[in-house]
Parts: sequence; C-alpha cells; structure tokens
Amino acid sequence: MKLRLQKILAEAGISSRREAETFILAGRVTVNGRIVRSLGSKADPESDLVAVDGRPLGPPETKAYFVLYKPRGVITSRKDERGRKTVADLMRSLPFRLFPAGRLDYDAEGVLIMTNDGELAMALTHPSYQVSRTYLTKVRGFPSPSALAFLRRGSGSGPSPRVRLVKKTPKNCWIEITLTTGRYHEVKEICAAAGHPVLRLIRTAHGCVTLEGLQPGEYRPLLPREVRHLRTLLRTFHGNGEKIQR
Ligand code: URA
Repeated sequence: MKLRLQKILAEAGISSRREAETFILAGRVTVNGRIVRSLGSKADPESDLVAVDGRPLGPPETKAYFVLYKPRGVITSRKDERGRKTVADLMRSLPFRLFPAGRLDYDAEGVLIMTNDGELAMALTHPSYQVSRTYLTKVRGFPSPSALAFLRRGSGSGPSPRVRLVKKTPKNCWIEITLTTGRYHEVKEICAAAGHPVLRLIRTAHGCVTLEGLQPGEYRPLLPREVRHLRTLLRTFHGNGEKIQR
C-alpha cells in the first residue's frame, strides 16, 4: 500500500513527521534512487526502496513511549551544534531512537514525551488536536486582576488559556497556565506582554502525562493506559474544521 513519505519515515523511527518534511524538502530522501522533494509524494514501503542520506530505511521499529522530566540547561533536540547536553543524551542507555514530542526551551523544565511513534508525536504537537499543556511559572511581580484577564485572553489565536494564581512569594508569584496552542515561547511571550516576565517555567502536564514520581533528569515508560489515552487523539477530530493530512 502506498503511504506518504513522511509517514514511512516516522514509522521507521527516523524522525517525527514534521522533521521528515524538512528532510524531504532538503532533498535528503530518495525513492528507488531518485530524489523526491514533494511533500505529497507516496511510496510503498514493501516494494519501494526509500532512503535518507543514501541509507535505506530498516523495518518499522517497535514503538516506544517515555516521559522525561527535562531539567533546565538541556536542549530539546537529538543533537546540538554547540555541544550542549541534549534530551537524547539523557536517554542514551535506551535501545530506541526517541524524538521529543514538542519542545521546551533550554531554561524550561518538565514533562517531555519522548517517542519513536511519529504519528502520535505529530498529534501531540499539531495545534488542531488541541492537546493541553499545563505550566507552572514563577513570574516577576504580582499580576493585577486586569493583568490576569490579559493572560486569559492569550495570544488572541486559538482557545483562551486557563490561568490560576497559585502562590505569592515576597517579590514574585507562581501562576498555573494551561494552553492548547503549542507555539514556541508562548508562555514567556504572553507573560512578558502582561508585564510579568517569566523567571522559571515548569511544564507539569502534557495531555494526561504528568511529572508525578519523577525528579529532574529521570524518565519512565508511559503506562499502557496513558499510551491508549494519547492514541485516542489520532481518532479524534478536533479543531477548526481543518483536516489534517495523515
Ligand atoms: N512556553 C515557553 O515560553 N517556553 C517553553 O519552553 C514552553 C512554552
């Protein structure tokens, strides 16, 4: 059966689907020896020879699902050109090539789902699936009711964040923010725009997956019920009517 190249690469554990698109556009993917640059291209993994950088794909990998408590000072990537520690370095002892489902900034910490299931990684990060991410953030100062109302309006695109004042310290306070949009730096941007820059950022949940039982740098396999729950996303049609290419 013919499948999109992004899906074939993701199922072989090469990359997430989004990353596979960058490989295709960069001319790194060949089908039967010919470079394919179109994102709509399909191939039959049974009968076509698909290769990345000249290396043929292996058979589909066993699917693996983990949650890592990403510490601060670690890059959400498999490799870093500047030699900084990456989330993949923290999980090197595992016999899987895992990819982060979404990202956390270098100075942010918390839940990072790591998987070789490219299809699920895409659902966890694509805004149309509206998967919630909850952040506990320490911000400078004390937001007034109008600043909290501003935070609750969010960036103006997509559903509004849920915002809760958790605790005050002498100079700052902790706020919990739950969003479903998943843009880069979005918590820092909306807090800075409200006049309360982020001092610390912890993602406490991504979908049904939380930090419970983990210390920074530790990871655990997802429970079968967590994987089942997350995979229901793939069957659920969410969002603004936009149909996602799967
Ligand atoms: N929002 C941010 O600003 N940074 C993150 O790492 C995640 C969400």
